[in-house]
Amino acid sequence: MSGPFWDERFAGADFFYGTAPNDFLAEHAAALSGPVLSLAEGEGRNAVFLAERGLDVLGVDLAATGLHKAERLAAERGVRIRTLQADLADYVPEPGAWGAVVSIFAHLPAAVRARLYPRVEAALRPGGLLLMEAYSEDQLRYGTGGPKDADLLMTVDKVRAGFPALAPLLLRQTEREVREGQGHTGLASVVQFVGRKPLAAV
Ligand SMILES: C[S@@+](CC[C@H](N)C(=O)[O-])C[C@H]1O[C@@H](n2cnc3c(N)ncnc32)[C@H](O)[C@@H]1O
Repeated sequence: MSGPFWDERFAGADFFYGTAPNDFLAEHAAALSGPVLSLAEGEGRNAVFLAERGLDVLGVDLAATGLHKAERLAAERGVRIRTLQADLADYVPEPGAWGAVVSIFAHLPAAVRARLYPRVEAALRPGGLLLMEAYSEDQLRYGTGGPKDADLLMTVDKVRAGFPALAPLLLRQTEREVREGQGHTGLASVVQFVGRKPLAAV
């Protein structure tokens, strides 16, 4: 889905995915160290939550409208976040610079994932964590949010193939109630991943 699609979705005064953080991120946030790169940050709910925990966060997204709202939300909450408008198809995060990378409902085509994911592995510091939650391919049957195109949806195998250099601390497909704004509205099938970059190459 294109930038104009997301700009339009984020054009309203309300927050399409709410202002509370993603549940999976909140559950595991204590394990994350900064700086944190948040991919497809949207309207800022996750970046602001991490900044409130004292972490330095850069939120990257295609949609300028979302990022402006993210900055406003941060200001309202009395924290600072960094934002960058970029297409994840081309974005090259600084290698070895990030304590954590967060990817929440960042549904990207396979061709974009194939470019981005090796860059994410390279971007993490040794010992750094990638935390990801995305709707699974099975979510097509639930009708409670997420893209309607299987190419954009995840499986455990897609995660394994996409991040061969990360050691999985948690990798599963599971069913959970996702109530995160008007865009995510009930029982859903998600893939959850926390992967660690090894401390040293073996
Ligand atoms: C479902 S929203 C999730 C937003 C946020 N992560 C959250 O959980 O609230 C998907 C986000 O992906 C962004 N996005 C989609 N394709 C992108 C791309 N190629 N590059 C950067 N961002 C993209 C959209 O602009 C949108 O903010």
